[in-house]
Amino acid sequence: MSADRTLAPFGRRRAVVVSERRVGAYSILELADRDGPAPQPGQFYMLAAGAGWGAGEDERPFLPRAFSAMGGAGGTLWFMLETVGPGTRRLATLRKGEAVWALGPLGRPFARPEDGRRALLCGGGIGLPPLVFLSGALRDAGLDAVLQLGFRDAAHAQVAAGFAGAQLATDDGSVGHHGLVTDLLAAELDADPHAVVYACGPPGMLEAVRRLCVARDVPGRLALEAGMACGYGACFGCVVPLAGGGYARVCVDGPVMEAAALAEIPAA
Ligand SMILES: Cc1cc2nc3c(=O)[nH]c(=O)nc-3n(C[C@H](O)[C@H](O)[C@H](O)COP(=O)(O)OP(=O)(O)OC[C@H]3O[C@@H](n4cnc5c(N)ncnc54)[C@H](O)[C@@H]3O)c2cc1C
Ligand code: FES
Repeated sequence: MSADRTLAPFGRRRAVVVSERRVGAYSILELADRDGPAPQPGQFYMLAAGAGWGAGEDERPFLPRAFSAMGGAGGTLWFMLETVGPGTRRLATLRKGEAVWALGPLGRPFARPEDGRRALLCGGGIGLPPLVFLSGALRDAGLDAVLQLGFRDAAHAQVAAGFAGAQLATDDGSVGHHGLVTDLLAAELDADPHAVVYACGPPGMLEAVRRLCVARDVPGRLALEAGMACGYGACFGCVVPLAGGGYARVCVDGPVMEAAALAEIPAA
């Protein structure tokens, strides 16, 4: 695992659905991507269904959509999707053997913990995939990690059943801590601030994590999301403001960015 990018081959590739399953509020998609390089935790792909994309329902979706790798090895990729619009709705209807256009792996991955710091992985909702990928990579490297996951309710938290030892929080208190996942993060930082924080989730949650890290002078690596038209630096549709002024493109300068480098994370 390194912060150097694994570079995507030029052009999109045809991947094939190996399996798909529904877990609570989410869909898990397994793809065979025989010709692509393996992704690193934090990297993402631009995905589009092989057919039925760019037509129907007001001609949407037209552009591919960005998805974090939840795992990837030996020519197999895993993704977790939440249906929020036409792209995710179409991808969630894919069945075994159907084709998917994949461009990736894209973006900068998570850098490994430094100075003997312990890794605190804090995810909100659909921010889970890159952190699950990271927690497996850290475990394989012999490094301990604390995994903290926050969800809206029990239907969304169901997916966490597969991650033994994860600390859970729900907004409605139906599973784990009744409150925000950032409450759990603050408690871990109170107990031992010699840590590095890895986070992914909705903008409000990432902004809370950014503030926690900056206030406590703890390194924070945030996997950001932004509306993306291209995924490779051409459209400038994905910019975020930097602490020192100016902007960075989430797709090529991120999606993983240092908390201290960022100005306030804009709401979606
Ligand atoms: C680097 C990256 C990694 C991502 N990883 C995942 C993932 O692993 N799983 C997953 O389900 N989604 C992920 N997303 C988000 C996903 O790409 C968007 O939600 C996508 O727009 C969904 O397409 P759609 O056609 O279904 O909905 P759209 O019609 O595009 O959007 C539906 C709703 O979601 C809002 N929205 C769209 N994009 C975003 C965004 N980036 N942030 C916040 N709100 C948004 C819109 O305002 C709208 O309300 C990721 C995005 C990025 C940039
Ligand atoms: S998505 Fe086009 S520049 Fe980032």
